Amino acid sequence: MEPSTLVDRLSQFSSELTTAERENLKFLLSMAAGGLLSGHARTVAEPLRKAALTTAQHSLPKLHGALRPAFDTGVVFCGRGPFFSADDLAVLDRESLAYRARAERFQDHYVASGAPVARELALSQSVSDFLAAKVGPVLPTYKANYLYYDEPGLGIDPHVDKDEFSLNVLTMLEHRAEPRQSELILYPPDQEALRIHLDPGESLVFFADSVTHQRTRTVSGEAIRLVSFGYRTIGSAA
Ligand SMILES: [Fe+2]
Repeated sequence: MEPSTLVDRLSQFSSELTTAERENLKFLLSMAAGGLLSGHARTVAEPLRKAALTTAQHSLPKLHGALRPAFDTGVVFCGRGPFFSADDLAVLDRESLAYRARAERFQDHYVASGAPVARELALSQSVSDFLAAKVGPVLPTYKANYLYYDEPGLGIDPHVDKDEFSLNVLTMLEHRAEPRQSELILYPPDQEALRIHLDPGESLVFFADSVTHQRTRTVSGEAIRLVSFGYRTIGSAA
């Protein structure tokens, strides 16, 4: 079957599923895309591997119905966001440092949740207004995580995010060490991978539930701190 036909069939199938079932389908497609991008399935013939990856990459945004009609790369914005003041960034930076001791290991990086300043800023009108102007009304998911990649070999393999981080506002607080080795890579369908290098204070706003992405591994002496806010587009099928 042609990949485009299969994408349409999966999209139709997805529209008939419950939210929980659709999350499971998303997980399966995410595992498929991530595994193929990570070099698994090498024994499978190249054309079939490519067709499988293309199918998974195109199907992930379609799980959200008509809400990703113009899906291209999944990137909504990249740069210094007008929604954070210098003071906002300074308090996030301080809180991130203070919460490092509470961070728990999640796969190959560290995560701290429930920090009050991050939570409050994730609910701020300025972020909501900015996102609404780009993608229509959004709802915060009350999820705000500090992320730490501050030991050699930390990173995260290709994946898509859970529903709580459907629309992800990911802000760099610190990336120490020169040259910077670890990078965020997005894998939109039918395109070159996007290599994202955020400076402190810069944000990437992207549909993390739809575009496969990874952070490559840190090297000795490298330390990265980020803060991640989760939103959903209103009426999302997910
Ligand atoms: Fe992610």
